[in-house]
Amino acid sequence: MIGNKIESKVAPTHAGGPLLEVKNLKVSFETVNGRVLAVNDLNFSVQTGQRIGIVGESGSGKSVAAQALMGILRGADISGEIIFRGTNLLELEEDHYRKLRGWDISYVFQDPLSALDPIRTIGDQVSQVLRLRNVKAAEAKNKTLEILDRVGIKDPQRRYNDYPHQFSGGMRQRAMIAMALIGEPSLVIADEPTTSLDVRVQAQVIDLFNKLTEEQGTAVIFITHDLSIMAGFAEDVYVMYAGNIVESAKTDEIYYRSIHPYTLGLLGSIPRIRGPVLKSLTAIKGKPPAPTDIPPGCPFHPRCTYASSECAELKPTLQIPKSGNHLSACHHSELLSQKNGSR
Ligand SMILES: Nc1ncnc2c1ncn2[C@@H]1O[C@H](COP(=O)(O)OP(=O)(O)OP(=O)(O)O)[C@@H](O)[C@H]1O
Ligand SMILES: [Mg+2]
Repeated sequence: MIGNKIESKVAPTHAGGPLLEVKNLKVSFETVNGRVLAVNDLNFSVQTGQRIGIVGESGSGKSVAAQALMGILRGADISGEIIFRGTNLLELEEDHYRKLRGWDISYVFQDPLSALDPIRTIGDQVSQVLRLRNVKAAEAKNKTLEILDRVGIKDPQRRYNDYPHQFSGGMRQRAMIAMALIGEPSLVIADEPTTSLDVRVQAQVIDLFNKLTEEQGTAVIFITHDLSIMAGFAEDVYVMYAGNIVESAKTDEIYYRSIHPYTLGLLGSIPRIRGPVLKSLTAIKGKPPAPTDIPPGCPFHPRCTYASSECAELKPTLQIPKSGNHLSACHHSELLSQKNGSR
C-alpha cells in the first residue's frame, strides 16, 4: 500500500453492484466526411478488483471508448450509460468528473509524451493527485519518491526534478503508471501502455503494472491490439471491431474456443470450415474499414473467410449461440462452436 486509501467522496453510492457498468455506449463525431460512429453499442461491466481486456486492431474504437469513460473526449456525441459506483457519469457535472479522474478512476495514456506536460517536472506531475487531495507537500513528495522507486525509476530523488524529455520512452511510461496508481484508484484504464516500447521493456512494464494493480486490488481495463498479452492477466476479454464488440468471453475461452472469425484471425489460427484438419493461417486479409465507410451487414464480412450472402445483408447481434457458452456477433458462430469440439 502506498498510503491509507482515501475513500471517494465523488461517487460514494454503490450497493454491491458492479464497480463499472457500461450500457449501450455510443460515441460519434461530426466530420467533414460525414458522421463517424466510433463506438457502437458497447456493453460490459467490471467488478471491484476485476481485470478485463479490450482487444482490437487500430481504429476499432478502443481509445474513444476509454476516453468517453474518462470524460475527456471533446466534440463527441455520447449516449448510453456509464455507471460507476451507481452513478451515471454521463450525468455528472464536469467539476465532479474532474475529481473522479485520478482519484477513483485513472487513465494510462497510449502516448505518454503527449500526455505529460513538457514544462512540468515528473515529480510535480506524479504528485499532483495527492496535492489535489490536500496531502501535505512533504508527505506528497515522499509518497511520490516511493512510487517512482516502485515503478523501477532508479535514483528517484534525482529524477523527481527531471522533465519528461529527460526520460526515455520506457521511463516515461513508468512515470505514467506511477501517476495513475499513486492515488490508489478503484479502476485503472490502461490504453496500450506499452505500444511505443521495445519488446523487452514492454514485458517489464506489463509485469510491473500487473504486480502493482494486483497488490492494490485495482480493477483494470487493459486495452491492447495484442491478444497474446491478455493471457494470465485479464479474466474476461472483449474483442472490438469497427466500434462494435464482436466477441466476449473468459480469456481461456477466447484463446482456445473462439467462435468469431475476427478473433480467430487475431489469434492467427483460422480453422477451416471443411475438412477434418484445422489448418492455421496467419494475418487477417485486408484492412479495417474507414469509420465513414462501415460496410452493411456484418462489418467484418469483406475480410472474412466464412462470409456468406447473409453476412453482407444482416448485421449479426452479439449473442450466445445455441451450442456455445460465450457471446459472439457472427452468423457462423454456431458452426464454429461445433468445430470447437474437434479443435
Ligand atoms: N475526434 C475525432 N473525430 C473524428 N473521428 C475520430 C476522432 N477520434 C477518433 N476518431 C475515429 O474513431 C475511430 C476509433 O479511433 P480510436 O482512437 O478509438 O481507435 P483505437 O482502437 O484506439 O486504435 P489504435 O489501436 O490505433 O489506438 C477511428 O476511426 C478514428 O479515426
Ligand atoms: Mg487507441
